[in-house]
Amino acid sequence: MNSKWEFTNLEEMLNLTTGKFPYATIDEGIKSVFQDRLIKAEMLKDKLQLHKEMIGLEIGSGPGFYAFYLSDHLKKLYCCDISSAYLKFAKKICIEKSNLEFKLINTFKFDFLADASLDFCFSTSVFIHLNYYDVFWYLNELKRVLKLGAIFYFDIVTMENIISYHQIKFKEMAISYRDNPSSEKNLLNYLSKDAIGILSQKCGFEVVEMQDLEGLFKTCIILRKVS
Ligand SMILES: C[S@@+](CC[C@H](N)C(=O)[O-])C[C@H]1O[C@@H](n2cnc3c(N)ncnc32)[C@H](O)[C@@H]1O
Repeated sequence: MNSKWEFTNLEEMLNLTTGKFPYATIDEGIKSVFQDRLIKAEMLKDKLQLHKEMIGLEIGSGPGFYAFYLSDHLKKLYCCDISSAYLKFAKKICIEKSNLEFKLINTFKFDFLADASLDFCFSTSVFIHLNYYDVFWYLNELKRVLKLGAIFYFDIVTMENIISYHQIKFKEMAISYRDNPSSEKNLLNYLSKDAIGILSQKCGFEVVEMQDLEGLFKTCIILRKVS
């Protein structure tokens, strides 16, 4: 895993979180991303039917805005990230939320979790940066920690959707990768919906939903652990 997600200032944090820095001031940027994530967290809560008895995991919790909202609606949420800078920021934001636990990870292992201990897992704007090997190892580890029937929600960018916004973005990413493969901090990794479906099944999950999110240029996927 890499350290590309460490940031040294809040402008860089916003840039990494949203892929750009279009805000007049840093405060305005943080407020705007916070609001956006709270709305999405509420939608996620309804979609996954999350409730007070549930224990879950967020992969790549970033600034902790989802966790901040969801903590009031769950029994417990573990939040993990590969970036200590993000974890430090998120812990500050969520200082009063006693049912959140933040963990630094540097392999694809959730060593802090027992087998079949989770009711659900989610991850937003993280798998858009990952490759098939990353997905494979995370699904394997999720198979261990999720209960049978538990749900995993995540989003990806897909080769099938290289149109409009992504036509330009893909070219930008390709050029950036060609010129310096290790420099691009938040490189998008385009996957195929079919390949993700096959990989999920091989790892013991069934695809419950695979839906293009209009306007967000992403595909959201819900998997259920079936074996
Ligand atoms: C674009 S930010 C999204 C943050 C948050 N999920 C959100 O939607 O607001 C991506 C986050 O994923 C983390 N990340 C990147 N690669 C990761 C990996 N392989 N495993 C876990 N987290 C990762 C980054 O450190 C960063 O916090």
